[in-house]
Parts: sequence; structure tokens; C-alpha cells
Amino acid sequence: MRKRLAHRGEPSGAGSMKNAPPVIDFPLAPPGTMGPPAEYGRLRAHCPVARVDIDPKATAWYVTRYADVRSLIGDPRLVRPSISDWPDQHDPGDQDPRLTTMMELEGPEHTALRRVLTDAFSVRTVRQRYQPHLRQLADGLLDSIAAGGPPGDLVGGFAEPFPLLMVCDLVGIPYAEREYFLPMVDAALGAMQTLEEGRRATKPLRAFVTTLIGKKRREPADDLLTYLVRQCDSGVLTEEAVISFGLSMLIAGYRTTTMFLANSLLTLLAQPGQYAQLRDHRELMPTAVDELLRYIPVMNGVVVLLATEDVELHGHTYRKGDGIHVVLAAANRDESVFPDPDRLDLGRVVNPHVIFGRGAHNCIGSHLARAELTVALEAVLDRFPALHLIDGQPPTWDDESPAKSPLTLPVGW
Ligand code: HEM
Repeated sequence: MRKRLAHRGEPSGAGSMKNAPPVIDFPLAPPGTMGPPAEYGRLRAHCPVARVDIDPKATAWYVTRYADVRSLIGDPRLVRPSISDWPDQHDPGDQDPRLTTMMELEGPEHTALRRVLTDAFSVRTVRQRYQPHLRQLADGLLDSIAAGGPPGDLVGGFAEPFPLLMVCDLVGIPYAEREYFLPMVDAALGAMQTLEEGRRATKPLRAFVTTLIGKKRREPADDLLTYLVRQCDSGVLTEEAVISFGLSMLIAGYRTTTMFLANSLLTLLAQPGQYAQLRDHRELMPTAVDELLRYIPVMNGVVVLLATEDVELHGHTYRKGDGIHVVLAAANRDESVFPDPDRLDLGRVVNPHVIFGRGAHNCIGSHLARAELTVALEAVLDRFPALHLIDGQPPTWDDESPAKSPLTLPVGW
């Protein structure tokens, strides 16, 4: 575990920014909930830049206001550090390759990769090519749940396999090997809290992707990895860029959707009237999906950035080498942008949330993610109009995990 040291100071007023900012513990959601941590509101109001205590060897900041988060996440002077290099360097002599996903990739290699992927992740491709397939996948999974219950578990039976099946089909990852790669992916994703486990997963994850790329060269298929291997062999992409894409799809391509979908279903069922409102007013679906994306603070909504030069904000200077935690989930509840921000309003029209980031590294899968959430909710509403949580069988949570989404979601219908 990364160390969490004792709380050393209450957030003080924003006016005190010229003085040393206070040091806070890493904010965590209350056990058994998705959050957000209660501190976010206080930090936004009183302490927009706080020093967060995560590792004695690193200086790290917590940034919670919408305007600051929006500006920093798109700032090219900030990069995404590899888990091998930050907060401390694992082993300075270590020459092993890093866990470089698209997020850690920079410069022309990153630009070239984004360019060749534009069409595959565009709104048009998602609507025309993937959406019908998504609906088939969703209906198939819900058929199995319906046949086996009630009750049924909407996480194990639906929210987990649905986006994983989609990304496996799209990219060409063998779904049958999930028992092998999922624990490593979860270790890498959990590196915010369990750094060493995440670092140990780097080598086997890279080896898994490299083997897969070799297979696509020998046995080309109709999938994105084969397409990128061809781009590589014709000199458009580097081999490293193709590996980073494979790693990105494993690490960023479905777990986030699983967590958002599980939390969305739980939120709709737990808050009186919300599920019925969406069931009876399907025209709300587009605003409802974006509102759920704004409202749900999965994994505390944190993106870790690293300053490559000194950066000035609010009279405070982030020094080169400082870590900056931009908290998307806190920005998405900023009362200066979102009226009544803690209320889930499925009809919220003006909703400039930042859950997909911004700038060169914004989420390339945002259209696919929106389509997955839309199709999943529509399929569930169609199949189970009277869906409900079960008295005495609450969802289970792993409070040691940073995921902050239920592990099981028992439902009746
Ligand atoms: C609800 C679901 C999702 C959320 C909330 C989400 C959120 C994000 C965020 C905030 C970033 C930017 C991080 C940064 O600035 O460093 C990002 C990047 C990324 N996401 Fe997503 N994502 C979701 C689903 C997906 C899906 C379905 C895919 C693909 C199948 C995907 C692929 C990626 C990739 C490859 C990047 C890195 C892009 C780059 O660095 O150029 N994401 N995502």
C-alpha cells in the first residue's frame, strides 16, 4: 500500500495560497459507497490547491475546482507518469520497459496513433458499426440473467462481461483468456493504492500484448490490432505505439465502463423514482447518460499528471517533477458550473462535464463509452421494467479497491 500519513492540517482559506498550502490525507469515499469523498466540497470551497500526502519521496497536489481541472488536464506541460517512475523511481537502474499506454505516450508517436484510430472511434463508426452489435451482446447477457432468476446479479452477469466482450471483439483480444489477463489489469488499475502490485503486473501485461501482436502478424484477423500491425509494418506506426494501444485497451477500454454501468444501475435503482422516470421517458436517455457520467465519481475521478516544467496557477507554482492529481469527479460537482450539483437530474441540459478529460489525451473511447451506457440501459429497461434492489441483499463492495463500484448488484424483476 502507498503510505497514508497522519492528517497534518485542515484546509485553510483560498486567500492563504501565498502561504504554504495545507497537507491533506488522500481523500477516500466512505466504505460501501461510490463516493464522492466528503472532502471534495470543502477543498473546492476553501483550498483549491492542497498538498496530498501519498509518498514521502514525492510532492503531490490535489486540484478540485472545475476551471483549474479543465485547464490543467489539457495543459501540454503536464504528462502522465508511468507507474514505474512516480511517485518514486522503483529502481533507478531498472531498464525494463515501462507500462506505457497511450496516456503515457507523447509527441509524434502519440499523434500518429491517434490519427490512424480516428475513424475506428468516431461517432459515425460507433453508431453504424458497433451499436447493433452492442445491442445483441446486451440482449444475450440479459437473456441468461432472466433465465437464471430472479434474483440475478447485474455486475457478474452484465456490467462486467458486456464492455469486455465488446472490446475483445473490436481489438482482437481473446475473451477466453480473461482469467489470465484480468487480475494483471486490475493490479495495474489499482496502482494508485497498491503500487507494488501494479508494478509487478507490467512485465506480464506487456508480454501478453507482445505475444498477441505476433499472433496477428501470423494470423491476420478483422480487428483493430491487425489493422495497427499493418500500419506498423508499413512504417506509419512504431512497434511501441502498437503495444501501447494493446495495453490501453486492456487497461482503459472496458473496466471504466463496467464501473460506470454498475454505479449507474445502482444509482437509478437506489434513488426513488429515477429508474421509472427513465423507463417512461426514453427521450431523456441522451441527457441521462451524460448526467450519470457527471454524477458518478468512479475511482475518485482522479487523473495523475506530472509537471515537466514549473507551472503557475492561482499564485501557486507547481514545480517541475511535482505530481498533480486533477480530480474530475470534484470538478463535475462544482457549484459554480452545475446548479444543485449533488442532485442527479436526468434532464440536465447544460452539462459540460469533464469526465472524458480534454486536450491531446482526451478519451478516445468516449463515443463508444456513451453508446455502451445507452444501449445497456435501454436493454435493461426493455427487459426488466419492474427491476428493483432486493431487501436484505445489498450490493457488496471491496473497500480496499480504488474502483468504488459494487462487486455484486443483486436484483429482482
Ligand atoms: C465511462 C467510460 C470511460 C471513462 C469515464 C473514460 C475516461 C477517460 C479519461 C478521463 C481519459 C483521459 C485521461 C488523461 O487525460 O490522461 C481517458 C483516456 C483514454 N480512454 Fe477512456 N474512458 C472511458 C471509456 C473508454 C473506452 C470504452 C475506451 C476504449 C475502448 C477508452 C479508451 C481510452 C484511451 C485509449 C485513452 C487514452 C487516450 C490518449 O492518451 O490518447 N476509454 N478515458
